[in-house]
Amino acid sequence: MKSKEIRSKFLSFFEDKQHTIVPSAPMVVKNDPTLMFVNSGMAPFKEYFLGNAKPKSNRLTDSQKCLRVSGKHNDLEEVGYDTYHHTLFEMLGNWSFGDYFKEEAIAWAWELLTEVFGIDKGILYVTVFEGDEGDGLPLDTEAYDIWKRYIAEDRILKGNKNDNFWEMGDQGPCGPCSEIHVDIRSAEEKAKIPGEALINQDHPQVVEIWNLVFMQYNRKASGKLEVLPNKHIDTGMGFERLCMVLQGKQSNYDTDVFTPLIKELETLTGKGYGRDNKTDVAIRVIADHVRAVAFSIADGQLPSNTGAGYVIRRILRRAVRYGFTFLEQKEPFIYKLVDVLSRQMGESFPEISDQKSLVQNVIKEEEHSFLRTLDQGLVLLQGIVDATKGDTVSGDKAFELYDTYGFPIDLTALILSEKGLKLDKVGFEKELKKQKDRSRAASEMNTDDWTVLIDDTDENFVGYDTLESNINITRYRKVSSKKGGDMFQLVFNVTPFYPEGGGQVGDKGYLEDARGNVIYILDTKKENNVIIHLAKNLPKHLDESFTAVVNETARFRTACNHSATHLLHQALREVLGTHVQQKGSAVHDKYLRFDFSHFSKVSPEELQEVENFVNARIAENLPLQERRNIPKEEALAEGAMSLFGEKYGDNVRTIRFGQSIELCGGTHVENTGDIWHFKILSEGAVAAGVRRIEAITNAAAKDFYVENSQAFAEVKALLNNTKDPVKAVKNLQDENTDLKKEIESLLKEKAGNIKDNLKQELKDVNGVQFLAKKLDLDAGGLKDVAFELGSQYENAFLLLASEQGEKALLSCYISKSLVEERNLNAGQVVRDLGKYIQGGGGGQAFFATAGGKNPAGIPEVLEKALAYIQ
Ligand code: ALA
Repeated sequence: MKSKEIRSKFLSFFEDKQHTIVPSAPMVVKNDPTLMFVNSGMAPFKEYFLGNAKPKSNRLTDSQKCLRVSGKHNDLEEVGYDTYHHTLFEMLGNWSFGDYFKEEAIAWAWELLTEVFGIDKGILYVTVFEGDEGDGLPLDTEAYDIWKRYIAEDRILKGNKNDNFWEMGDQGPCGPCSEIHVDIRSAEEKAKIPGEALINQDHPQVVEIWNLVFMQYNRKASGKLEVLPNKHIDTGMGFERLCMVLQGKQSNYDTDVFTPLIKELETLTGKGYGRDNKTDVAIRVIADHVRAVAFSIADGQLPSNTGAGYVIRRILRRAVRYGFTFLEQKEPFIYKLVDVLSRQMGESFPEISDQKSLVQNVIKEEEHSFLRTLDQGLVLLQGIVDATKGDTVSGDKAFELYDTYGFPIDLTALILSEKGLKLDKVGFEKELKKQKDRSRAASEMNTDDWTVLIDDTDENFVGYDTLESNINITRYRKVSSKKGGDMFQLVFNVTPFYPEGGGQVGDKGYLEDARGNVIYILDTKKENNVIIHLAKNLPKHLDESFTAVVNETARFRTACNHSATHLLHQALREVLGTHVQQKGSAVHDKYLRFDFSHFSKVSPEELQEVENFVNARIAENLPLQERRNIPKEEALAEGAMSLFGEKYGDNVRTIRFGQSIELCGGTHVENTGDIWHFKILSEGAVAAGVRRIEAITNAAAKDFYVENSQAFAEVKALLNNTKDPVKAVKNLQDENTDLKKEIESLLKEKAGNIKDNLKQELKDVNGVQFLAKKLDLDAGGLKDVAFELGSQYENAFLLLASEQGEKALLSCYISKSLVEERNLNAGQVVRDLGKYIQGGGGGQAFFATAGGKNPAGIPEVLEKALAYIQ
């Protein structure tokens, strides 16, 4: 069975059991500070488990792209070394939200595996939770008894909290789980060691394929468990492992999920898979990592220096490093795999085929720049090796190379061992730990449990229609961090505050009670579908009503920028072409930023055209046409633009101004005329194939023009109010160039004169033309004089000095013949004499220079010079 068929059989099996099939959510998580990437099938449904939102059906099924590369679930370092861990993998899942529970979950899992997929029951084992004293939890007898109906009791194993109690994070819904394991070893091996001895022992052929989680508790910040009012089912099956079993393979990499990538890698690198362990690891690493990186980029996460972007960059760099070291790839090549990946996965995940060239370009450029880093690192490492006395390179030197230049430590170790040197690994680890501790301390956050004032989780956002409303606080909690200090998060029953999202900043404003006490709301965010208002203090009378007021000026200016962003999007597609896709935006009250895919610099003419287009739409006074809560299909059919990597519900909101129509949750002006004017400030590159425009509107544009016209008036006044200031500035520039040239030639002439005068001052000492003198010249002048004068004699020894402000300069010139015959060395001379001017220097044997901070030492230098030839 091909992998495609396996995926669709899973989904249709659960569809037959009244589950709604939903598409995979984007992998990058936007509304949850505790999670960077979707790391399990249930992550996109967290808000349903937490009770903050309701799913459209209480039975769902999907194949979710997951990344386990950071936080609680991180498999990155294992990938490549075994045959069944991955960075990106697909998790097949079925969910019940307060609907069916253990009985059906177990029955259906068994039916699907043994009847639909026809897996031999004799290779299956299951586990149940044995209970945990610390948490006060008993053995999961319920699950145990159900399993007994399907499988022999000696194949039901009891597992501890580590393996059989699933928690999505430090807090939140959790519960006991039952895992289903397969034993695909040969009969011979099975005879030697029984399968049950190898469950959860990291054996490559005795692996877990499916985890059935019975969500029945909620873990509080205090660590205590409370029983959930509604019980849920969350299951996750490793798609690649299932393919391994069903295709009769011993490794995920031998299934058709990976073989096309591996074949292409063999062709590209000329290395065969399955011949040499090191090469195989590298091939597996790259085949795995390209999937993670390509899908992240397709989901809108570009590699970068911070946060999720940095994790993606590190994954790609790990792949480049393995290619560089073990497959001898010194040029970008990983991007070439995207073609294969897109052919293979594009049907189920169109985001990859639709954005193929963007993904290729971004990966290629990243590869390029990291390969350059590796080249530089090799040079730096050679420097470290040369300076190393003894046989061990110190840990802090290696750490510097790793930390400042991004040069990988395992590559450092490898190169050192090839050179017969050792690396102080302990020292390196120490430095690494210090750095990690520093950043952990900076980002550590303590989140209290919610204090519930009113048991009402239906929060009502009214901020599209009003900036002020009467509210009650339903719950609050304290969040403390080193960086931000203590902050309070408040949730209201009704709120006019727009939470940060869709690129638009969160609203600011205040709460006022009936007595006139005011609490400032500093920011508004959305977490797992809850709107959270941030305040430095708690109101005194928490249980009273408040007037919640949004800062109107900031909101209006932000709306101008948001609406202008839509018009800019339209303009770019109009002027540059429909390949332009939004790749990110930041909409503030002071400016807007818009990132988009486009493969070359936008010319000044094109930019002007874009600006004119937007301003023309502003001049047309196009009214806002907003539609709320319409089916997504209807909106898309109308031509609304949607973004890759954005998680849309089934019902959406559309914003239309004339021909511009987008799916959008942001706040907008009533009429494009409100924007007043749009002005582009800059255009540049963010990554390969991604450009960024920064622009301003409304008040900021007014200020911009006022400031610029004032500055221009001042410039004109300085130019005697000339009619043509551009010409006047050009004239000044020309004049300046001429003057510089003139000064240069005068200085040359001066040096020439000095040289002529100096000729008279040369002394013949033991057959050497000797001169030691202080001159009024800069370093270049000293050198010119030394060379011009010295070259006229066979045996010259010149020591020239100069005082430049606080600094002393020395130049020493010694004719070649003197260097050879009398073993003189200018480098040595300036080093010796440098001490009188409190400095140092060096150079070659026939010419060297020194600088120091003690000009008062110059006479002594000149006096001592004679000694060298006497
Ligand atoms: N959420 C469960 C897991 O990831 C199914 O293993």
